[in-house]
Amino acid sequence: MRIGALTLSSNLFLSPLAGYTNLPFRLVVREIGGVGLCTTDLVNARSLLEKNINAFKLIETRPADSPLAVQLFGSVPGEMRDAAAKLESLGFASVDINMGCPVRKVCNVGGGSAMMTELAKTAALVRGMVNAVKIPVTAKMRLGWDDENLTAPDLARVLEDAGVAAIFVHGRTREQGFGGTVNLAGIRAVVQAVKNIPVIGNGDVTTPEAAKKMFDETGCAGVSIGRGAFYNPWIFQHTLEYLNRRTGFQPVSEIQIKNGDRQDACPTHPPEPTFADRVRVMCRHLDLMIEVFGEEPSCRMFRKIAPWHAKRFGPCREFNKRVVQVSSKAEFHEVLGNYTRWRQQFLDSNGELQPRFRPPPLVASFMQGPVPSRHEQIPVPKGPVEVW
Ligand SMILES: Cc1cc2nc3c(=O)[nH]c(=O)nc-3n(C[C@H](O)[C@H](O)[C@H](O)COP(=O)(O)O)c2cc1C
Repeated sequence: MRIGALTLSSNLFLSPLAGYTNLPFRLVVREIGGVGLCTTDLVNARSLLEKNINAFKLIETRPADSPLAVQLFGSVPGEMRDAAAKLESLGFASVDINMGCPVRKVCNVGGGSAMMTELAKTAALVRGMVNAVKIPVTAKMRLGWDDENLTAPDLARVLEDAGVAAIFVHGRTREQGFGGTVNLAGIRAVVQAVKNIPVIGNGDVTTPEAAKKMFDETGCAGVSIGRGAFYNPWIFQHTLEYLNRRTGFQPVSEIQIKNGDRQDACPTHPPEPTFADRVRVMCRHLDLMIEVFGEEPSCRMFRKIAPWHAKRFGPCREFNKRVVQVSSKAEFHEVLGNYTRWRQQFLDSNGELQPRFRPPPLVASFMQGPVPSRHEQIPVPKGPVEVW
């Protein structure tokens, strides 16, 4: 997979989730493998130029965290251009422009989704950035403002002419927020609108099957995954294996290889990672958070992150209730130890969750039939990002 002059090891991408896909989580995902390119949370171009400490924390990285794109937002052409040049001089692989953020404070200043509504202005801004750097400049957008204004194909065409190297498109409108179904036909329209650049589809991919359906039905060159990576950090590796050898599929995680306990009974369906796998990855995530942010701040931040990991633990009320109080690594491990003991009541004699306590399978909105199912929708974390 190529984006401009950049060659990637896979056509699977980690979508930016502000507040979540920071350096520690990106390292977790990269250690498991399968992801071609990760992107930082969105960063205010002006803050970067003003050397704001928080902006620099958002672009903190390490050699193991590459290739890495930084996502910029802003609407002042000179600032976006200079910020892109600065990122290039710092060694980042590419710069992504946020054109999809529906949050009012970003749109009110002409950034985020507002950029989808002013094509000529947006093209001029992008051209300025493209001319200022050699690294690829990409854009991430939604399908449009609302169903009456599906501007993404027009915008993609204009951006390609302005020199953008790839388009990421979340298959929903700004008005949709995170509700309703991801519109694969809408993503396909963007794929068909551009001449040469890759279009990367995004939205609700939680399984390898969903990724395949997005590839098949849209013709997209890559798939980008956000929330699905939190529920299953193995999703990139599993998807690559699924796409590469559709028959006799046997995905295994590192820990399963180490323990020799491969448990993929069904050859075409990737297994859920085991509880032990999930706990190992969650603890690794916290350790990396502590390395990057320090112990107390990390434990506080982990209060909202741990429940994402726990979502697939089976009954997790007891864990979620206690983990929101932890302030140290020791407290976290105490909560985890108590929870692991409490969880045993739901296990069978093989140490597996009894079927009635297993979480229902995650199924992408676009994989579900018209009949309401027990399948779990992919939630959006609580907080100010609810409207993303
Ligand atoms: C908590 C949260 C934060 C997000 N932050 C960003 C962001 O910083 N930049 C961006 O372009 N999109 C952001 N998004 C949108 C995601 O990148 C992605 O387009 C969306 O979640 C759909 O993909 P998914 O279903 O795979 O998560 C965010 C979404 C969520 C839920």
